[in-house]
Amino acid sequence: MHQVEATVNGATRRAEVSPETTLLSTLRDSWGLTGSKLGCDVGDCGACTVLVDGLSVNSCLLLAVQVNGREVVTIEGLGGFEYLHRLQTAFERLSSFQCGFCAPGMIISAKALLDENPAPTEPEIREALAGNLCRCTGYTKVIDAITEICRDRAVAVEAPA
Ligand code: FES
Ligand code: FES
Repeated sequence: MHQVEATVNGATRRAEVSPETTLLSTLRDSWGLTGSKLGCDVGDCGACTVLVDGLSVNSCLLLAVQVNGREVVTIEGLGGFEYLHRLQTAFERLSSFQCGFCAPGMIISAKALLDENPAPTEPEIREALAGNLCRCTGYTKVIDAITEICRDRAVAVEAPA
């Protein structure tokens, strides 16, 4: 067994894990963070996407021991019932999801994109979300939500003080 200590959503978390335990399993089973979903478990669907040191990764493909000493952000770290992240607000306002299973991973991937590129083009948005599969929506409203955020931010930046 190995000891893992990581900063998860701003708080220090520790777990004792076997060498083959994935980050996703540790998030869900050891730390009770069930927002990241177990879909395919082989890196195909993106439902388990989290940020590790600011980069989006499939947590089903990462071993828990690999995040020792690193910073992890899950969907729970973006917002909650009392305060929604603006991505969550936009997705909710535009009804960008149906069953919602893909939503946590989709929103985390969108955050990674906007952190790196605050004004992405639609092709750039589609490319950034290419690893996040959705069986319900057809993706259009997901793209619309991210586009709306970029437009609102551009208007805010251009508005006179
Ligand atoms: Fe990780 Fe599908 S559960 S990519
Ligand atoms: Fe159902 Fe995306 S809303 S999988």
